[in-house]
Amino acid sequence: MPTNTQILLDHRPTDKVSPANFRIVEAPVPAPGPGQVLVRHTFLSLDPYMRGRLSDAKSYAKPQEVGVVMGGGTVGVVEASNNPRFKPRDAVVGNGGWQRYSVSDGAGLRIVDAKSAPIQAYLGALGMPGVTAWYGLNRIIAPEKNETVLVSAATGAVGSVVGQLAKLAGARTVGIAGGAAKCAYAVRELGYDACIDHKSLRFAEDFKDALFNGVDGLFENVGGEPFQQALRRLNDFSRVAICGLIASYEGAPTALPDMRIFLVKRFKIEGFIVSDHLDLWPKAIGELAALAAARKLTWRETIRDGLESAPQALVDLLHGENFGKMLVKVD
Ligand SMILES: NC(=O)c1ccc[n+]([C@@H]2O[C@H](COP(=O)([O-])OP(=O)(O)OC[C@H]3O[C@@H](n4cnc5c(N)ncnc54)[C@H](OP(=O)(O)O)[C@@H]3O)[C@@H](O)[C@H]2O)c1
Repeated sequence: MPTNTQILLDHRPTDKVSPANFRIVEAPVPAPGPGQVLVRHTFLSLDPYMRGRLSDAKSYAKPQEVGVVMGGGTVGVVEASNNPRFKPRDAVVGNGGWQRYSVSDGAGLRIVDAKSAPIQAYLGALGMPGVTAWYGLNRIIAPEKNETVLVSAATGAVGSVVGQLAKLAGARTVGIAGGAAKCAYAVRELGYDACIDHKSLRFAEDFKDALFNGVDGLFENVGGEPFQQALRRLNDFSRVAICGLIASYEGAPTALPDMRIFLVKRFKIEGFIVSDHLDLWPKAIGELAALAAARKLTWRETIRDGLESAPQALVDLLHGENFGKMLVKVD
């Protein structure tokens, strides 16, 4: 008899999150009630926002509840359905959380085409991170031809899509990434014109060299010292999309720059949350899927095996140890 392995939040982290904050339990596989669907998960999505949900501080979304299955994006296969919108064997994306099976009334569950792209792509470039990239680049930065767009966490789930979309829009693209391997991939596979390694001792010189024309569009995923330096290189009338500040998610302070630059550079800075723009998701995913089908959009994944590896995978993601979209394959 299969059981439903589940990972619950056991207690909130007080400092850095660790696997000890979670607890694994076995439960019966749930039976779908009227109007419900039973989904068997094949991949879990690990995302930086999860760190914020582990805290009970007031934020744009409700905190993860203690003693409850950890929430998160999932893809999987419909096993049984009492809902006319779904049938067994449909490939679906939803928010099933850290468990082997979930039951849904169909809200937030979407059928995907697992023949034209691997199913887990709907958790990455063809899913929430892809839409995030699309929104921040097109609706905030809106690059013009030959402008310079700088992207931090340039090879990550969001950043890799930003870089490729900006290049397709005719911009000069510069990435910031951690390590020589990520930078080589950024230039060779993602088409960045240059990539600056934030772990290199030459970072400050490389930064200046790569950004000889300044920055017209800054897509910020990280925060920290590179962000401060990027702000100092902004051109007049540039645009800054604040997508994420992962360097501070485990408590490191964030700082505002000297406020005079807002006035002197007349730049626009805007934070955004992709779930505020659900109306644009179909358009964005349609465009991203078309680019992927035309082989104009590529991505990379770090896949951890087994549901039980999810807590450590989250810790590793928060320490930058992923190379591309962080996923857990549910066996
Ligand atoms: N606003 C929204 O709606 C929205 C939606 C999705 C994601 N986000 C944000 O977008 C950012 C990227 O998310 P993602 O899912 O694409 O993750 P990701 O980029 O695939 O992974 C995170 C990356 O951040 C980089 N990083 C740099 N400094 C770091 C530090 N001090 N600690 C940890 N990581 C560091 C690492 O890459 P390097 O080794 O290359 O530095 C790491 O691989 C995150 O800040 C996330 O919160 C926002």
